[in-house]
Amino acid sequence: MSSILIRNIKSLVQTCEGTQLVCGAAMKNLPIIDNAFLLIENDKIADFGSMENAPDRAEKEIDAIGKMVFPSFCDSHTHLVFAASREEEFVDRINGLSYEEMSAKGGGILNSARKLQQTSEEELYDQALERLEEAIHFGTGAIEIKSGYGLTLDSELKILRVIRKLKENTNAIIKATFLGAHSIPMEYRSNRSAYVDLVVNEMLPKVVAEGLADYIDVFCEKVAFSIAETERILEAGAKYGLPAKIHTNQFYSLGGIETAIKFGAKSVDHLEVLTDEEIDLLKNSKTIPTLLPTAPFFLNQDHTPPARKMIEKGLGVALATDFNPGTTPSVKMPFVLSLGCIKLRMLPEEAINAATINGAVAMDVESQVGSIAKGKIANVFITKKIPSINYLPYAFGSDLVEKAILKGEVH
Ligand code: NIG
Ligand code: FE
Repeated sequence: MSSILIRNIKSLVQTCEGTQLVCGAAMKNLPIIDNAFLLIENDKIADFGSMENAPDRAEKEIDAIGKMVFPSFCDSHTHLVFAASREEEFVDRINGLSYEEMSAKGGGILNSARKLQQTSEEELYDQALERLEEAIHFGTGAIEIKSGYGLTLDSELKILRVIRKLKENTNAIIKATFLGAHSIPMEYRSNRSAYVDLVVNEMLPKVVAEGLADYIDVFCEKVAFSIAETERILEAGAKYGLPAKIHTNQFYSLGGIETAIKFGAKSVDHLEVLTDEEIDLLKNSKTIPTLLPTAPFFLNQDHTPPARKMIEKGLGVALATDFNPGTTPSVKMPFVLSLGCIKLRMLPEEAINAATINGAVAMDVESQVGSIAKGKIANVFITKKIPSINYLPYAFGSDLVEKAILKGEVH
């Protein structure tokens, strides 16, 4: 048996039993033990508590004087598998073209799909692995990854196989989401239902037969899929037992929230534009609102999700990166925390709950990760010396994660 003892931890953060979504006023409670130890045995958290109760020795010992230990971030919304960056669109936007105008012209997601279709599975895997390692370096230990840059049967399967390989070969906890309905390819724009047929009748059965997806997603938006199209796809997913995590209310409120709730979606993601009625609908559902503040930041959008109102109405929100080449070319969860605080006016404690345990619940991995609890998987990170937990979102440009430990292995 291998063991790691982390001693003299200035603050051991998020020591909740942690198997439930933290909601409303409770989001500002963040359990912390000062002057603590953490004992890891094999890949699990074996014990933790005040330093006076620390065991004498372990195989490996780490002194964490002045440093803090957090459970790894749970990033519940990413598009980590893509073939190329899109900084040319970044410049187009500076010159005045909007994201929606670019998408309507066949840029955006279709631009990524063209490149991915020409890229081999091996090359995609190598690129994705490098990005995942970067995510781990920034403190992420569990991550959801979507397909959606393939948009053909072969290429969607190719992405999902890359995700499966990442699951098999790395220490990160990974969930896969089938997002064949990310954009309508140009050749289907005058016959949209034929593309929905392809997703529902060709792609989905193969994805399920190979066991490649844990969830199904649809980009429900004016520039992407309508409510009726979203319903067809979620219904098909439900027949195969795939829960939904849907992109909705990024630019418009079209009724995606209502549809998602109707299908018992695990989460609704984005919510930059959200009505009071939709907040109430969410309040009476089990669907988790997942906020992605780096996307409107990068697009320089006026609207941001009304996190304060949501929390005040009793909702539990999750925070995630939305890492993708079009709207968030960053996999850095600490920056998401910063924007959660700065733009969404979440308190640091609320943002940390949203990025750890609530992200875990949004991926159905709350019994394994998302907090420091005995028996959970030892996915944690040690910070550099920091004065307080508030310093983490405050010092938004710094790299404050010193060491990541995943499944008991130091990275
Ligand atoms: O979540 N909104 C849809 N999908 C991504 C962006 C995809 C892209 O532009 O490549 C998002 O923001
Ligand atoms: Fe997204």
